[in-house]
Amino acid sequence: MEENKILETAEYVKEKLSGDSSGHDWFHTYRVWKLGKKIGVAEGVNLSIIEPACLLHDIADYKLHGGDREIGPKLAGEWLESLNVESCIVNAVKEIILNLSFLGVDNVKPMKTLEGKCVRDADFLDAMGAIGIARCFAFGGAKGNIMYDPSIPINKNMSKEEYSKANHSSINHFYEKLLLLKYYMETETGKKMAVDRHNFMKQYLSQFFKEWDGEI
Ligand code: ADP
Ligand code: NI
Repeated sequence: MEENKILETAEYVKEKLSGDSSGHDWFHTYRVWKLGKKIGVAEGVNLSIIEPACLLHDIADYKLHGGDREIGPKLAGEWLESLNVESCIVNAVKEIILNLSFLGVDNVKPMKTLEGKCVRDADFLDAMGAIGIARCFAFGGAKGNIMYDPSIPINKNMSKEEYSKANHSSINHFYEKLLLLKYYMETETGKKMAVDRHNFMKQYLSQFFKEWDGEI
């Protein structure tokens, strides 16, 4: 996809997402775009699908649209068509966006294309590490969830059904999703980058619980 169309897409998404405080603000998309490019280049994958897919991946989250998983791909497709982007790119981007989300441990299927693997690894990386921790508490707060309550059991094997209904504490979310992401990375570059972010979250949780218990 041509550079001017990429930049126009970035402007469109920036406008649409600015002001969001639920974890899907423009800067999440911006980081995923950068990460996607970095992974794509390292993996030797053409960026003409990766860049628009990263930029458009969160323009309409199904969670904020009554569970409608088609709306994101549909809007992304309409935008790219309005720029006269070739239909093979439009279809590839729509397919990636449709299959991107983490919907519980029984529902993470490998991405079909190498481009898709790069985009999902980038999106998953941004849910990990220091940024992932910040997003987790920001999202939990926006939803009105509690930070932590030891009486709420942790479920490490949530099905799609349970995951979509869960209203657990933000600390529970680490065990229900964030600490599992490392195992779902699909590119060699993504796997390598996930190591530090994963370890940082484990270290954070260890400190959190020590402080919780007044040990330190
Ligand atoms: P993504 O942009 O990776 O598709 P999601 O839409 O699933 O992410 O969620 C946005 C951000 O909010 C992510 O960082 C995610 O880990 C976090 N998040 C999602 N659900 C919860 C939750 N129940 N509690 C805390 N954080 C959450
Ligand atoms: Ni995302």
